[in-house]
Amino acid sequence: MMEEANRLNSRGALGKDIERVLIDEKTLSRRLAEMGAAIADAYAGKDLLLIAVLKGSVLFLADLMRHIPIPHEIDFMATSSYGADVQSSGVVRILKDLNKSIEGRHVLLVEDIVDSGNTLAYLTGLLAARRPASLEIITLLDKPDRREVDIAVAWTGFSIPNEFVVGYGLDYDERYRNLPYIGILKPSVYADTNTENSME
Ligand code: PRP
Repeated sequence: MMEEANRLNSRGALGKDIERVLIDEKTLSRRLAEMGAAIADAYAGKDLLLIAVLKGSVLFLADLMRHIPIPHEIDFMATSSYGADVQSSGVVRILKDLNKSIEGRHVLLVEDIVDSGNTLAYLTGLLAARRPASLEIITLLDKPDRREVDIAVAWTGFSIPNEFVVGYGLDYDERYRNLPYIGILKPSVYADTNTENSME
């Protein structure tokens, strides 16, 4: 335990807020290599477009696409559901839409986490109406215990318990995205902040 605490603290100011590492860098990297190979197989010879849902999925997208050795393009959408809250609010807002048409293209939606499923339920409905050739979902993390809407996820990196996780793109109140691992945030961190930020 002491060694783990020292290792986290040695990562700088953010590490001290992490209770424990849930998925370390090596495990992430190994899984991304497997997923990239699976995607390359599934989409060989097809016009593949990766659509990342900002902001949480940027690190996942950047690392995943390096493991997909077939031609593909990327685009971005931005949604918001959480605000400063640790619980998903169920309200999805589109903050940024795609730059180009997806009609006739093979679209793979790239998410960092599926929680209630509300974001993806909304996005898949929206994108399906634009008539892509296919529409699938890849997510780094899945919290099945929190699901409110049924979502068909084609590829999942890791199924995780219902803990508040940050790092590798995932934030709490916009911080911790730059941690290179997935960690569980100390409850004292969001207990402190929730007295300052209103719950949505
Ligand atoms: C998170 C995450 C998903 C969504 C999942 O995004 O990136 O998009 O919530 O939750 P759901 O399954 O309950 O809808 P968030 O709104 O926190 O934005 P961010 O990626 O910019 O941090």
